[in-house]
Amino acid sequence: MNRLNQITILILMIMTFLNVYLFAEQPETPEQKAERLQWFQDAKLGIFIHWGIYAVNGIDESWSFFNGYITYDDYMKQLNNFTAKNYDPKAWVKLIKESGAQYAVLTSKHHDGVALWDSKYGDLNVVNKTPVGKDLIQPLVKSLRKNDLKVGLYYSLLDWSHMDYPNHLRNKKRYENDSLRWANFVKFNLGQIEEISKKYNPDLVWFDGDWEQSAERWKAKEIREMLLNKNPNVIINSRLQGYGDYATPEQGLPVTRPKSLWWELCMTMNDSWGFQHNDHNYKTPNQVIRILVDCIGMGGNLLLDIGPKADGTIPKEQVQILKELGRWTQKHKEAIYGTRAGIPKDHFYGATALSKNREILYLYLPHKPNGSVVLKGIKNQINRIWIVGNGTKLAWDIKMKAYWSSVPGLIYIDVPEKVLDEQVTVIAVLLKGPIELYREDVQKIESN
Ligand code: GLC
Repeated sequence: MNRLNQITILILMIMTFLNVYLFAEQPETPEQKAERLQWFQDAKLGIFIHWGIYAVNGIDESWSFFNGYITYDDYMKQLNNFTAKNYDPKAWVKLIKESGAQYAVLTSKHHDGVALWDSKYGDLNVVNKTPVGKDLIQPLVKSLRKNDLKVGLYYSLLDWSHMDYPNHLRNKKRYENDSLRWANFVKFNLGQIEEISKKYNPDLVWFDGDWEQSAERWKAKEIREMLLNKNPNVIINSRLQGYGDYATPEQGLPVTRPKSLWWELCMTMNDSWGFQHNDHNYKTPNQVIRILVDCIGMGGNLLLDIGPKADGTIPKEQVQILKELGRWTQKHKEAIYGTRAGIPKDHFYGATALSKNREILYLYLPHKPNGSVVLKGIKNQINRIWIVGNGTKLAWDIKMKAYWSSVPGLIYIDVPEKVLDEQVTVIAVLLKGPIELYREDVQKIESN
């Protein structure tokens, strides 16, 4: 080998090294993930919006035909009457903002395959097939951003309408194994996902329906990479067969604190995701607020669902819940946004949360106390106690504090009746330094 060749080979080797080791994608560190998910962890409340042709008849979204409660053809007839004629995205966003939510997640496409935008993949969308005739997503996204709310888009991976998707109805499959048709479907699905990612640049992509196929078949890894390439800050929910960022318990409020640092309970206001004229089983504002408080206390978010009607109006019961929620969140914002999970119930019989620096402990009172409330096992000195959103300073009294014992005393806090909130009262306890809990077993007596 002559000298020139040797040098060329050496340069090539160096370049390969640089490429592989220096410019290769580094996996995200836990700190980087925490930073990417920070706004989400701080947000505490989001609004889920299930809007689609199912609102026309007021029946279960997609599942009603899949489970055979209505024929597929009759289900699809709803396309003709989905008008969105009173759709006022600005008014929606005003209401969402007023509720205190920090983000909204709209169903861009449910399992029925009807896209709310003018997709160039397939023709089953509201622009081609309904009287709406226009993209419903864009104006909402615009208005959300204008109001400093984060934009989330729900997307169903499975599509029971697509001719190349294997499942159609619970008891009717299109095919079992057909790699060509499956490849067609994957192309379509990736195309639509890329389309919404490019068109709307969502802050959050909320997948659903992943249970029907494996990560490999969905190309979950590629989907994740594609979304993060487009927007390195995007957050993805858990329903992407292991390739998501945070857990999504559905309808069931966790009882013990979830292991994941990031989670979000998605929940309906009545018993339906979409608008159903015959579902009157609404939770009361008090119940919704208390569920939100439980989520906050366990370090999670509540994604509360609304189901607008086919013409785009939001049912009045839902408006009412959002408004009362808004009154409460506005008053108690310091005890909601940016807080972290509270302390074990051994120390306080109820939900609690901590400020980020862990120096303020928030106590949530869902009831009228009969006498003072008690806090146990707090080692810190207390600097001040007040009622959140009202400012009244509260007096406290420490009992059972023996000077020779390390067991902290019982802290009794007096809560006068006139400071109580009509839903949930919040007490802020300012500690000297970050909270320190006494968690030891029975004390040993050596002298007194
Ligand atoms: C479920 C359902 C769906 C609903 C979603 C919301 O997985 O399939 O109808 O949209 O949950 O979380």
